[in-house]
Amino acid sequence: MTTSKAHGGTLINRWNPDYDFFHIDKEIELDATALSDLELIGTGGYSPITGFLTQKDYDSVVSGMRLADGTVWSIPITLPVSEEEAASLTIGEEVRLVNDGITYGVIKVSDIYQPDKKKEAVEVYRTDSDEHPGVQKLYSRGKTYIGGEIQLVKRVARGKFEEFHLDPKDTRKVFREKGWNTVVGFQTRNPVHRAHEYIQKSALEIVDGLLLNPLVGETKSDDIPADIRMESYQVLLKNYYPENRVFLSVFPAAMRYAGPREAIFHALVRKNYGCTHFIVGRDHAGVGNYYGTYDAQKIFSNFTEDELGITLLFFEHSFYCTKCENMASTKTCPHGKEDHVILSGTKVREMLRSGEIPPSTFSRKEVVEVLIKGMKKDTVQV
Ligand code: ADX
Repeated sequence: MTTSKAHGGTLINRWNPDYDFFHIDKEIELDATALSDLELIGTGGYSPITGFLTQKDYDSVVSGMRLADGTVWSIPITLPVSEEEAASLTIGEEVRLVNDGITYGVIKVSDIYQPDKKKEAVEVYRTDSDEHPGVQKLYSRGKTYIGGEIQLVKRVARGKFEEFHLDPKDTRKVFREKGWNTVVGFQTRNPVHRAHEYIQKSALEIVDGLLLNPLVGETKSDDIPADIRMESYQVLLKNYYPENRVFLSVFPAAMRYAGPREAIFHALVRKNYGCTHFIVGRDHAGVGNYYGTYDAQKIFSNFTEDELGITLLFFEHSFYCTKCENMASTKTCPHGKEDHVILSGTKVREMLRSGEIPPSTFSRKEVVEVLIKGMKKDTVQV
């Protein structure tokens, strides 16, 4: 595949700073997830979605991983409000979408409905346990959902990493200017360790460019903060990647930890950013032991490549092998676990917090230095 159309065929643009909303009095307060979703709908990151899901689309996404018109879509993009807020709203009216006193958007209310959250949890997250961080978040949000098309009227102010916030139309332009026909997208909520680097570079052997597209929206509190990660990505790229083959820009969405379902969502959004390929490795977007190691790869077999419109690159669990003296996976290495350098995310975070240095076979020393330094400081908004 050498071209990448937006999902559904057209890149949505509902960003309109001139939209007249001053006469609208009613407001809905957005949480961090809804604010990032509003922005991603407005900029086309979530094409073909043009608003928060109405019940028809929501039911169809929850039960069948498709919008009501059949387009593949795996994560419900919803606007939850309290029952009291919902009672004050009327179908057909426009309402401001507000965060902390600032109006970021407008919704034309076309649906007000009660979701079955337990069903949503079981279908989307494969568990209804509120120990799962995504399910916990789902249960903590308002009980009623508001559906309707949106306008994005103001962009979220960014901190010192503003230059890495590019809209889908802008990343597409960058890829065109670089002359890349094929671009592989890489999602991460972590620092890039040697295993990530290995699968990215394996992919780079067959495509023109890599979009390193770390998620910087809301994550769970024990994940490494985005601003520290951003520093670490920059030193890594500077020291170990050819400059003309990689581009760093961020994905401002909240992390759902929905494993397989989120892998589909991550792939479709990267297609909207202009990627032709997308990497899915081990336990993509997983948390704890909720998903099988390769469930996030297997789920794609429910769809044809044509309806996904992006080529998936699946990678096995990768590691450094001390006998091979190389990065490898079980596909390429004959040796046993005792020869493999494998550290869990929790273990690495513990090491970094206590200033202990993970081996260079696990993580590049420049990356480790940034992480250890960063964990000692306060974090800033990305
Ligand atoms: S997440 O966003 O998917 O939760 P993470 O940083 O853990 O973030 O993983 C980013 C990508 O790298 C995912 O596609 C994941 O499957 C893949 N990945 C992470 N670690 C490994 C590994 N050791 N071997 C193969 N793939 C991996």
